[in-house]
Amino acid sequence: MSLIDTYGRRINYLRLSVTDRCNLRCSYCMPEEGVEKLSHCEMLSYEDLLRISAEAVAAGIEKIRVTGGEPLVRKGIVDFLGRLAALPGLKELVLTTNGLLLKEMAQGLRDAGVQRLNVSLDSLKPDTFAAITRGGELQRVLDGLDEAERVGFPPHKINVVVMRGVNDDEILDFVALTLKRPYAVRFIEYMPTSGDADWRDLTVPGAEIRERIAREYTIEESTNSERSGPSKNFRVQGAPGSLGIITAMTGHFCDGCNRLRVTASGVAKGCLFSGTGVDLKPVLATGDDELLRKEIRRIVAAKPGRHEVTDEGVETKPFAMSRVGG
Ligand code: GTP
Ligand code: 5AD
Ligand code: SF4
Repeated sequence: MSLIDTYGRRINYLRLSVTDRCNLRCSYCMPEEGVEKLSHCEMLSYEDLLRISAEAVAAGIEKIRVTGGEPLVRKGIVDFLGRLAALPGLKELVLTTNGLLLKEMAQGLRDAGVQRLNVSLDSLKPDTFAAITRGGELQRVLDGLDEAERVGFPPHKINVVVMRGVNDDEILDFVALTLKRPYAVRFIEYMPTSGDADWRDLTVPGAEIRERIAREYTIEESTNSERSGPSKNFRVQGAPGSLGIITAMTGHFCDGCNRLRVTASGVAKGCLFSGTGVDLKPVLATGDDELLRKEIRRIVAAKPGRHEVTDEGVETKPFAMSRVGG
């Protein structure tokens, strides 16, 4: 079975947000006071998340990334991941986390069958980290990374959202990290998802990030072996770790987009920037899983060809990244 959209793209990657809650409040993701949280009944049950996943896999999804908010704050997550990992036909189960709870949970995640971790880490300086995350403790994340490595996870991917004047002075520190550790550090262009007026001042174009690295180091391209991710990868010659740049703003990677998203409240989105998406709750309520699979096929068929980022920012209304899961 495969899911092909109207532009001939094979959709085999589902990003599943399991909660909009988070134990951090990153400045680019949430306002200081937080966002209005989904009520318990708006949030999909694990049962329903599993039904969606099972039908998506039966229709052609091969890889599921569990995201949030922060997925590890939802009660019962490890058990849920174990059930997800057992879905027949699923080839890859991966997780995006801010790493705060990894120290305690890494072993359980590994045992449940999670294959790989992407960790969001925007600064290696305790004060800057605390400022961006509004109170996060850097050392807990670093300890979590070590523990996850210790229990057998392959080298982590580290997502760094680069913001001018905030953490762009640390680009070379992150590069230096790949000289010591086998991590895949990916620099992400800051996206104006929260409707902020000064986003142009914050976004550092990928080309500039690359230039700043190339000025200091000899870099070599790596082949993009991953399932067509949007990250352009390279490494410092001889380094155990690798580098990547995700040009979320200056480069369209829509042509190769292979993903479908489902939010914590059960809204399916063909594109990160799709305005409203399709609410799967009414279909779930019918109890008819055949219908659910048809609906997933219909949503994939209607996946937009590309998103437009204009001078005014993204063309859609601002949205809470914590609900969509990046
Ligand atoms: P892998 O599956 O390991 O490649 O990781 P991943 O799916 O977390 O990473 P990916 O490379 O897909 O995305 C990393 C970040 O890039 C996301 O968290 C977003 O910030 C951004 N991103 C991902 N998909 C899209 C997309 O469709 N459009 C835009 N503009 N940004 C995206
Ligand atoms: N711009 C770029 N990346 C973002 N992320 C969240 N919000 C933004 C934004 N406005 C990233 C996080 C995390 C992933 C899930 O999405 O850093 O790595
Ligand atoms: Fe939480 Fe991730 Fe949003 Fe930061 S970016 S507040 S860690 S959901």
